[in-house]
Amino acid sequence: MNRTPNSEEQSVATHRLNAGMVGMGMIFDETYRPFFEGVYQSPLYQPNFGICRVQLAAVASRTGRRAEAYQKATAGRIGTWQSFCEPDSIGQLVGAGVDFVCVATPDDRHFEAAKAALAAGKHVLVEKPSVLSLAELDELDQLAREKNVLAKVVYHKLLDPDHKKLRTLVVDGELQHVNSGYCTLLEPKAISTGQFAEWITGRNPGTYVAVHYIKLIDFTFGGRLTSVQCTGQRGIVGPADGPTWDSTQLRMIYQYDDGREAAFDIHTSWVTPDNFPGYVEQEVQFRFDNGVWNGHSRKRGVECTIESRTPLERKNSINNHYNGEFLEPWGARSQRGYGVEVLERFAREVADVEFGGPAGERAARIDRARGLIYNDISADRQTVAAVQAMEAILARHASGTPNCVVRVNDARGGLVLYAPGSAEPQVLYAPRV
Ligand SMILES: NC(=O)c1ccc[n+]([C@@H]2O[C@H](COP(=O)([O-])OP(=O)(O)OC[C@H]3O[C@@H](n4cnc5c(N)ncnc54)[C@H](O)[C@@H]3O)[C@@H](O)[C@H]2O)c1
Repeated sequence: MNRTPNSEEQSVATHRLNAGMVGMGMIFDETYRPFFEGVYQSPLYQPNFGICRVQLAAVASRTGRRAEAYQKATAGRIGTWQSFCEPDSIGQLVGAGVDFVCVATPDDRHFEAAKAALAAGKHVLVEKPSVLSLAELDELDQLAREKNVLAKVVYHKLLDPDHKKLRTLVVDGELQHVNSGYCTLLEPKAISTGQFAEWITGRNPGTYVAVHYIKLIDFTFGGRLTSVQCTGQRGIVGPADGPTWDSTQLRMIYQYDDGREAAFDIHTSWVTPDNFPGYVEQEVQFRFDNGVWNGHSRKRGVECTIESRTPLERKNSINNHYNGEFLEPWGARSQRGYGVEVLERFAREVADVEFGGPAGERAARIDRARGLIYNDISADRQTVAAVQAMEAILARHASGTPNCVVRVNDARGGLVLYAPGSAEPQVLYAPRV
């Protein structure tokens, strides 16, 4: 077919968003790198904003070493960008003409970076968990509203097709009333002793990975978080009586509008032997009034053995849904999966706000984007509450008082910690959660 484009087709608008990246570690390499490389080759298109080029324009990291290596490795593949390192890497990055900033630093360093970017009027996407306390969350949310920009969080498991199906069945009423559930996510020892060794002191695997399931439960089943308990084990990553945790077991109780409750247990570890078959072991079971959902993310059907490569260099059971490198049937090489898709969604939301209609209607577009509770920071309250409670319980445990309970929205405050044998509760957060 040979046809001359009509006037509408000829006048597709072209826009550009400059991206800033804070943190160039493991998650950058797994998801942000393929996103930026992919979108550089193939810009976003949506009928209401036309074509939107997204360009990595600046990166900030502690030393700049990985940024330098990446710059050399990708010459020509994703355009040019500036690299800033400490001190004041983030200050320099926000001054480098970026439109949005992605924050992928260790979780106790999200807040400062996100705050600096929002204060400079940049849209922000921050890795999970967004922040470690409700006070920090309130500050970021307020700043985003004052500056009229988006503050969003990456919970890529919400885009896992299996979890989308689970939520579809729940929303459509096929699976009725969750009663209880368990989730487990086990990371290899290489994570805690190698990759994260620099920042792991005083940290725990619950904040790092249980948070995926806290969010999944909160987003999928709704309800009100009413209490949090947690315990854990030490002695491998750090001393047995120190503040660094090998594994944690978290329990959350939710209550629903009909007054009924559900309990969820989430077990995590980052000291699983490196030679276990799946790089990350992830299993869930949710029990309903009328059904049971069992999921195992590395047993989706593929098991592959390659002499002298599996299971260390390459894993036997491969999660091709999260993020995989593929040779497409049409010959192209690609890296895709829900870990990358979630980043593209955010860029589309920013492009929609900035270019998706008349400037006078930007406020309505920003409200619409804020209404997306799967990633808006304002909808992360119960998840951050569970994380803050878990961290406070583990800190008390490490200082000699195990088995504390945090109650949510009781008579004394929004987040209140009760220690066994003590009549004096500690209010962690006074306003309602
Ligand atoms: N979505 C997921 O499933 C997933 C998976 C892994 C990690 N993460 C999250 O991503 C974040 C980073 O994890 P990672 O595995 O990439 O960690 P990492 O340790 O591999 O990398 C951290 C990066 O942050 C940089 N950094 C540290 N402090 C900084 C500072 N003050 N200023 C600027 N840069 C700084 C370091 O230079 C490094 O480039 C964490 O919040 C983690 O929870 C998410």
